Amino acid sequence: MKGIILAGGSGTRLHPLTLVLSKQLMPVYDKPMIYYPLSTLMWSGINEILIISTPKDLPIFKELLGDGEKYGCKFQYAEQESPNGLAEAFLIAEEFIDKEKVALILGDNIFYGTGLSTLLQQNNNPDGGIIYAYHVHDPQRYGVVEFDKNGKVVSIEEKPQKPKSNYVVPGIYFYDNSVVEKAKKIKPSERGELEITDINKAFLREDKLKVTVLDKGTAWLDTGTFNSLMQASQFVQLIEQRQGLKIGSIEEAAFKMGYINKRQFKDLIKPLLKSGYGKQLMRLLD
Ligand code: G1P
Repeated sequence: MKGIILAGGSGTRLHPLTLVLSKQLMPVYDKPMIYYPLSTLMWSGINEILIISTPKDLPIFKELLGDGEKYGCKFQYAEQESPNGLAEAFLIAEEFIDKEKVALILGDNIFYGTGLSTLLQQNNNPDGGIIYAYHVHDPQRYGVVEFDKNGKVVSIEEKPQKPKSNYVVPGIYFYDNSVVEKAKKIKPSERGELEITDINKAFLREDKLKVTVLDKGTAWLDTGTFNSLMQASQFVQLIEQRQGLKIGSIEEAAFKMGYINKRQFKDLIKPLLKSGYGKQLMRLLD
């Protein structure tokens, strides 16, 4: 399965922080934000990944992550010229996806929780679409899922004024290859974007959408405001300091998933020793 990270947008809700630097490059405690979704894809068993960003920001992502070889991965890059919506990712990535299945993750979505990588690995071969639902206090900001009393999905609505439930769709999606054709058929919404929710509705109409509820032991962190960005950093700091282990490390994911061997892992963390980041990872070799 292939993976896409969408790291576009103008980050207006974080100005002046993001006036010149992409939101997905902002620090979340000790690493750039994109490390978190990138490691999530890697833990899902995906190591062929297309990073989509604005023409202005793309060169910086390339400089940061390169061709992926040192992580045992293959990273490619593509531009999204203007913020035309999440679903446009599948049109931009058509050639990259080719005949494969594909996962999309948003570059500002941070996930953390016990058993999450196992869950994601189970879902990395979908027949149709596999998405998640997560309980939040402010569902009107997201795609909202309505379930019937048997737990079957009845509807999905994008940013409804009157949400039918508190369950919303986080920014990680697994689809079979038909997603490309579906993306070609949808029309821009009122806000002028090709909505991922319309893709999900198309799978739902075919009765091919599986929605798995993420339990409250899973953290799905928001990074969209000054406060939530700060809180995400504090969350990562708290866990990393208490446990002496890392969250969102692409180096750890590469090693533990077997994309690289011990020697390559050592080379990878050598330049990261002085900051202490690499030292924490050294323990994985014991
Ligand atoms: C997008 C999707 C929405 C989803 C959310 C997750 O919202 O449109 O359905 O719940 O990502 O982060 P947007 O970032 O466009 O506001």
